[in-house]
Amino acid sequence: MTRRQALSRARELLVANNIESASLEAELLLRHILRIDRTLLYTEFDRELTPQQEESYRQCIERRLKGEPSAYITGHREFFGLDFLVDNNVLIPRPETELLVEQAITRSRKYSAPLIADIGTGCGAIAISLALSLPDAHIDAVDISEAAVAVAKRNCRKHSVQNRVRFLIGNMLEPLSEPADIIVTNLPYVRTADLPRVNTIGFEPPLALDGGIDGLDMIRRLCFQVREKIKPLGCLLMEIGMGQSEAVTNLLRSIFPSAYIEVITDLSGIKRVVCLTLPR
Ligand SMILES: C[S@@+](CC[C@H](N)C(=O)[O-])C[C@H]1O[C@@H](n2cnc3c(N)ncnc32)[C@H](O)[C@@H]1O
Repeated sequence: MTRRQALSRARELLVANNIESASLEAELLLRHILRIDRTLLYTEFDRELTPQQEESYRQCIERRLKGEPSAYITGHREFFGLDFLVDNNVLIPRPETELLVEQAITRSRKYSAPLIADIGTGCGAIAISLALSLPDAHIDAVDISEAAVAVAKRNCRKHSVQNRVRFLIGNMLEPLSEPADIIVTNLPYVRTADLPRVNTIGFEPPLALDGGIDGLDMIRRLCFQVREKIKPLGCLLMEIGMGQSEAVTNLLRSIFPSAYIEVITDLSGIKRVVCLTLPR
């Protein structure tokens, strides 16, 4: 079977099973098996697959048809233009989280050599993207999952920022030894009742998704802890889910009546990031 034939057959199977972006996914998985880039795939499109390659591709497609996300099959996901290693101990970084990173970069300009804390770092995508974009920043990256931190450390070495990112295993802000200039966080915010509708359910760790009855359990806990772990004039940036902005801004206003609170909308028009800036 040629690459062209294998790709076309895989695409048909993915389409028939209602997998979104079937063409892209079929191609991604074939390139993963062949370990080649797009250009090489299409310049040698009529080349025959070896029997081993055919079998490996068949197995990958079978896993995808059972619902496993392609990022776990390939072990990689791109985020903020960077390649991150992922496995089923970490959430697969989402494109919408890039807004949180962009906001943290913009806001960090008013601090010199800022200390940034990334709470719930998962595979380290936010912390490492910030370290690479902000050469003067130091980042404390916290996660309660030891297995997630192990993945994040591998990503840190891959991107050579070990000297500026420190990983801490623990609960929320507790492991931070000093207050940060910026706290950035993408905590679990899916309502427990909505978990079955998450299309990666059964594959991604529930610890990375489940935000309790109204989705705000973790965010609420963090908001109540934050005062002790943020400097005067510091900034808290939180990713939130659709429909959560009013509850989160009301909560922050009740805890920090004199702080400045903004809500930033993503490209799909969803209120996605809440930013709290503390007074002096
Ligand atoms: C939505 S995922 C975000 C992962 C990553 N920051 C990203 O944006 O792709 C939430 C992360 O919070 C971590 N987490 C859950 N409860 C936590 C807690 N109490 N303290 C610290 N981290 C926690 C999970 O292990 C998971 O890695």
